[in-house]
Amino acid sequence: MNPKLLIVDDDEEIRTQMKWALAKDYEIFLAGDRSSAVDIFRSENPASVLLDLGLPPNPGNPEEGLAALSELLALDRFAKIVVVTGQSEKKIAMSAIGAGAYDFLCKPVEMDELKVLLKRCFHVGQLEKEFAAMQSSLGGESLEGIVGCSPKMRPVFDLIRKVATTDAPVLILGESGTGKEMVARAIHNQSARRNTGFVAINCGAIPENLLESELFGHERGAFTGAHVQRIGRIETAHGGTLFLDEIGEMPPTLQVKLLRFLQEQTIERVGGREEIRVNARVIAATNADLKKNMAEGKFREDLYYRLAVVQMMLPPLRERENDVLTLAKFFLRRFAAEASRPELAFDPDALRALNKHSWPGNVRELENCVRRAVIMAEDRRIKAGDLELNAAGIEVNGAVTLKEARETVERQMVQNALQKNSGKITRAAAELGLSRPTLYELMEKLGITKEKVTP
Ligand SMILES: Nc1ncnc2c1ncn2[C@@H]1O[C@H](COP(=O)(O)OP(=O)(O)OP(=O)(O)O)[C@@H](O)[C@H]1O
Ligand SMILES: [Mg+2]
Repeated sequence: MNPKLLIVDDDEEIRTQMKWALAKDYEIFLAGDRSSAVDIFRSENPASVLLDLGLPPNPGNPEEGLAALSELLALDRFAKIVVVTGQSEKKIAMSAIGAGAYDFLCKPVEMDELKVLLKRCFHVGQLEKEFAAMQSSLGGESLEGIVGCSPKMRPVFDLIRKVATTDAPVLILGESGTGKEMVARAIHNQSARRNTGFVAINCGAIPENLLESELFGHERGAFTGAHVQRIGRIETAHGGTLFLDEIGEMPPTLQVKLLRFLQEQTIERVGGREEIRVNARVIAATNADLKKNMAEGKFREDLYYRLAVVQMMLPPLRERENDVLTLAKFFLRRFAAEASRPELAFDPDALRALNKHSWPGNVRELENCVRRAVIMAEDRRIKAGDLELNAAGIEVNGAVTLKEARETVERQMVQNALQKNSGKITRAAAELGLSRPTLYELMEKLGITKEKVTP
């Protein structure tokens, strides 16, 4: 079944021509004025519309077309509407885009260009609809700010709720940026210990010689420079939760001491003789392969089993179906609000680029990507280029400001596309995901000519 396309033009001859050219790929509906366009749209609900702005009773003036545009969008905000304008009406075309049109074409319409554009319309329209459906079915699976609707995240949410009611040690595993610390905090906040402290220590960030007193504290005079008594992190966590981040980095000597604490619930400060009882719930996390570390003798097996009474594995983002877009939208709402730009939204091309990326840096990478895009976006839409996901390998190091970096990337990509397609604008535009007029505009802005690129 072909997708439905509504063509609105007051010129009967053009309507017939279009129908002829497009009937193979689309189920075509034709209208010659606003009211019949709205009627057909209401009954057939086509995903895309090609709309000539000069409609009767006043074909010389775009008002009737613009009115039709907003009426159609009011009926279906996902409709992809391409407006057709005269050559000299760039301003009008831009105001149509501002009013929600997807793109514009200038008369006379080139069939090849139209076909590329329509293909894209249907594709992104479909993506947006799927995304909206998924969001509404999401049912708010979000716990302590952890967002996720992928089936892979369900066991994570279940386990957080379950272990929160106990004091069992938890070991959280997962690649960098998958949310290990967030999960640790969620467990704490859901537990009876929520009103006492969550004490975090990054075992990998503190030099070995300082880590011991950092964890266990020391008595006055315990070593040179120990002028005063100091309470360690473990003791500070009494009554609350101790989060041992990057536990794989814990040096062997301290692994023994930590094991003792886990077995006896007591510690001794460095240089002290007193046994101090500490009641702290221990959560540890690592992105290291502890099994391998154990095999190599770098991590104690007995400590591992003490820590991993409950073990949680956070899936990498690339394995969480649909979560990329859900999270991207979530971060966009947050950063756009912070930047006082609540109207910012993703361009359909941007959604596609987000979905295509493999996210080696997981949620943290996505979060930073959206944060940066909010800064880069020039108007109300975040475009694929603002995400800089295709820019890998392009040299932007010489750039000083974001604007310069953006121009460098734009210039490189436009030049590459033109060279690759021997200066053929239509093909280069299609490859870049732009309409022809937009590519022309961009070339003008960057001072690129076909001749310069393909001598
Ligand atoms: N499911 C999620 N929903 C919302 N935000 C998330 C989610 N997962 C991670 N984040 C955010 O992503 C960032 C990275 O998360 P976090 O620091 O918990 O990851 P990590 O696994 O500890 O990473 P690392 O191994 O690099 O320390 C944080 O800013 C966190 O708020
Ligand atoms: Mg972390």
